[in-house]
This record gives sequence, C-alpha cells and structure tokens, in this order.
Amino acid sequence: MNYDFLVLGSGIAGLTFAINAASHGAVAILTKKQRSESNTNYAQGGIAAAIGADDSPELHLQDTLVAGAGLCEREAVEVLVRNGPRMIHWLIELGAQFDRNPDGSLALGKEGGHSRNRIIHAADHTGYEIERTLLIAARKTPNITLLEHYQALDLVLTHGECVGVQVLDTLTGDLFEIRARAVLLATGGCGQVYLHTSNPPIATGDGIAMAWRAGAVIANMEFIQFHPTTLYHTDAPSFLISEAVRGEGGILKRRDGYRFMPDYDPRAELAPRDIVARAIDAELKKTGDPCVYLDITHLDAEFIKHRFPTIYQTCLQYGIDITREPIPVVPAAHYTCGGVWTDLNGRTTIPRLYACGEVAYTGVHGANRLASNSLLEALVFAERAAQHATTRLEEPPPKPKPSCITTPRTPSEPAPATTDHAPNWDADRLQIRKLMQKKVGIVRTVQRLQEAQCELEPLAARIEAAYQTLPPSVESCEARNLVACALLITYSALARKESRGLHYVLDYPDTREEFATCPTLITPP
Ligand code: FAD
Ligand code: SIN
Repeated sequence: MNYDFLVLGSGIAGLTFAINAASHGAVAILTKKQRSESNTNYAQGGIAAAIGADDSPELHLQDTLVAGAGLCEREAVEVLVRNGPRMIHWLIELGAQFDRNPDGSLALGKEGGHSRNRIIHAADHTGYEIERTLLIAARKTPNITLLEHYQALDLVLTHGECVGVQVLDTLTGDLFEIRARAVLLATGGCGQVYLHTSNPPIATGDGIAMAWRAGAVIANMEFIQFHPTTLYHTDAPSFLISEAVRGEGGILKRRDGYRFMPDYDPRAELAPRDIVARAIDAELKKTGDPCVYLDITHLDAEFIKHRFPTIYQTCLQYGIDITREPIPVVPAAHYTCGGVWTDLNGRTTIPRLYACGEVAYTGVHGANRLASNSLLEALVFAERAAQHATTRLEEPPPKPKPSCITTPRTPSEPAPATTDHAPNWDADRLQIRKLMQKKVGIVRTVQRLQEAQCELEPLAARIEAAYQTLPPSVESCEARNLVACALLITYSALARKESRGLHYVLDYPDTREEFATCPTLITPP
C-alpha cells in the first residue's frame, strides 16, 4: 500500500494533521483500536487559549513559562499561545460545541497555574467533543482513509529516510508494510508505563519507542506528569477527577478533615500539578492513609451535576455521591512531557518523519506542563506539521541545539537465546509497571533509579530476544515499547542531577543554574 501521508494515531494530533494535509495528497490514518480510542477522547477539563477580555497571549505565555520551571523553549510557547485562539475557532467552525455563557460568549474555566480564566470546555467531556468533531470532519474530507485495528510495529528506513511503517493487522495477524512520502507519529504518550495512570490502555509509548529504535533524538523523558487527583476506589480503574473541580473551588483534605494545601503553597489547591501531587504524596506517607479527599460538597448540587456530569455519574456508580461526600483521590501518571524531539514544524531528526501531540517534545512544556495546554499543543503543531509536510518536505532535517545533558544510548540488543520458558507478556508488563511506580515515581532517589536501570536492562534484552523470534502480537509489541519507554525515563532521570518541575530527586533537592536551559537529550551513539 502506498500513500502520500501516513498518520499513526487517530487522536487530536493525527486527525488535525490529516484534515490539513488531505488537500495535497492521499492520507492514511492507522489506529490500533477503534477510531475514537485515544487519550484525547477522555480529556476532561478543557483546552487553554487566551480568549477572555482580560487575557492575552502574553499572559498565557508567562503562565506556561512559570509552570515549565525554566525549561520551556520560548519560541515554541510563543507559537502555541499566538495560534491558540485561531485554532479554537477552527474547531468551532468544524462543529465543536463548547459551553457558553448566557450572552453567547465562550464559558472560560480556571485550572492550576493559570492567572486568568482561559479553559474552553464542554462540561467535563471536552476531549470527547473534540474527538467527535474531528472524526466527523475527517470522514467528510476527501482523500482520507482511516484504517482501524492496524498496529504500527516499527518504522521502515531507506538510506536514513523514513519511507513507511511495518504494520500488524490485529484482527487477522497479517503483517505488511505501508509506504508514504511522509510519516507522522501521533501515537500519544506512555502513561501505561506506570501501574497507576489516568491513561487508557492504548497509551503504551509506541511512537516514542519506534522513533528511538529508528535513531531519532528523544528529549526530556524524565518529566512525567502525575495528576494529583484520580479516583481511589478498589473496583475502579484509574478515573480522572478533573483539575477543573479544584478550579471551581474543590478543597483537598486529609481523612481527619485537615486542609493541607495552604501548608505547601500560597496558591493552595490551584498550585501547579507537581506541587499538589508531591504534597499529596507527602501527606500519604506522613499519615499512612491510602488516599486524600477532594471536597466540593459546599457547591450547589445542581451546579455540580451540570458542570461535571461524567464525574458525578461515574463516582455514583462506585457508590460516591459527590454532591454529599468528599471524593477519595490519589495521584497517578498522567502526561508524558518529553518525547520525540521536534522543531517548530513537527519535524524529527529523521528525514520525512514528523511527530505531533503527546508523542512529541516541542519544547512547549519544559519541566512541567501547564493544565490544558496539551490539547492545544497537539492542534497547533499538527497544523504546522501538515503545512510543512505538504510544501517543504524535501528540506534537510533539523538538529537540536547542543545541550549540557546529552546521553548517547542504544536501544536494547537482544539477550542470547535461552530455553528457560516461553515469554509471559502480561507478567512482563506488570513487572515494568510496578517497578516504575515504585522506583521512578513522584519522588526519586539515585539509588532507586539505579535499581530500576539494573532490572530494566536485562528485561529489555530478554523481551527483545523473544520479540525477534516469535510472530509479533499486540502484547509483545506493547511490552517491547513499554520497556523501551521505561528505560528512556530512567536514563533521563539519572542524567538530570537536580530537581526541577516534575523531576524531584531527594539526592539533589535543588535546581541547578547550569541545567536551567538544558533539555535532556537521548541521542544515537
Ligand atoms: P492520543 O489522543 O492519545 O491518540 C493516540 C492515537 O494513537 C490513538 O488513536 C492510539 O490508538 C493510536 N496509536 C498508539 N499507538 C499506535 C500504534 N502502534 N499503531 C497505531 N496506532 C497507535 N489535556 C488537555 O489539554 N486538557 C485536558 O482536559 C486533558 N484531560 C485529560 C484527561 C485524561 C483522562 C487524560 C488521559 C489526558 C488528558 N489530557 C488533557 C491530555 C490529552 O488528552 C492528551 O495529551 C492528548 O489528547 C494527546 O493527543 P494525541 O493525539 O497526541 O494522542
Ligand atoms: C484535567 O481535567 O484535570 C486534565 C487537564 C489536563 O490534563 O490538562
């Protein structure tokens, strides 16, 4: 099969690229499950853009830079905030229905780290509304073919250029290649590397791992964002309790009713996420309790049901009426701030290979992503990547500026074949996820990071050996990608000998001036 543009992933980034590229050639979108299954579909709080009368791109820029703790690339943030309002109107023109005030203007919510109300939302199911809108628009756009249940396994390179992808049809087990003039990675993040995550099962870091194996530069993988509030309930898979709940006045309390956030930060519940997640982690360690509580019972019950219908209904299913009782919550891995290094046009270091959305590192988020900036980043940079791929594809690929934190690493070589036992992919995945949760979580130490590396490297080699000898399956492919992402996170965390933003290491509790503008780059040796 041959196309002009091959898009891996049907979330906000992949669909935006496809809709913008389709007037220039044939586009195929590959997606490994049903078309709507993506992180995008579960996004709750909303999408940030400087639209309010009291707001400006400059203020949005300042808030993003503050959250990013010195590591944001200013040019990338400027591109984000200046194009934000226009891209929101693009979504509205395509048919997205966002909440509005009685006078017809867009209703703007507030979230942590934002100095203005600037979160455009559709109740608490903003991602569903965006995904719905983009899927309809893609269906109506000539030249787009959407192929479900096609899992990309690896990139195909010829003379160092990306010319296509190896694909597994997950329904039939067939293997084949799809070729294209340009390939976009829009495969999302790697939340599933952790045992506790807000991400759905598709988030196994496939694009990051594929790009690394192909020799692309990977950046800032140590910056994994833990969302402070996911539902704590023994029967519930991780379910997010949106930051917008705190934005509307939700208060975090211990089991004994004590409101602890003012002890940690003057912004209390609306401090940036890293601060809130670490404060909860510290309180849990201090008290030995399994969770803390998010209380919105002081708000009007009808308002709660209208503003947070998904959260209200889901908690009710688990026997929690959030209008009458506080919600038990714990932090969970939520967002991959790093990823495949790209320039401002979504280009990676491999010719003809682009990356957008959560799979990519654009420099926008730095050491900590500001709430609701990720949907916007995916929209803005996917449009730019489509413009570039359709008009300037032949340009030589970009190179990152040299950084003082660069670690040349090779992907795992297969371990020598052993006959001990057949691989158990589920057990391997669980081992990786438990290990990462325990040793590479919210609060890190050098010793725990080294222990993780020592366990992950032989595991990666064993997984690679088994992967190379058996027919590929969804499970083997994802285990291989998860262990690759786990290693990238661990290597990057060991390389950054300071604490900054989301990366907190007890051995180096302070930020260090010499690392203030250095992304962590993992390069081919
Ligand atoms: P995704 O939407 O994750 O899409 C990835 C796509 O790639 C999927 O279609 C997947 O099936 C496909 N795929 C993956 N691997 C392969 C493969 N090997 N082969 C083929 N296809 C593949 N951000 C905000 O800005 N605001 C919010 O309110 C917000 N709320 C969130 C709530 C939750 C619960 C979660 C999990 C995230 C939230 N985020 C939010 C983050 C945001 O949703 C994501 O960063 C964003 O949607 C990522 O979009 P994407 O297009 O890059 O990837
Ligand atoms: C949320 O609704 O809390 C998620 C917002 C985000 O991840 O940006």
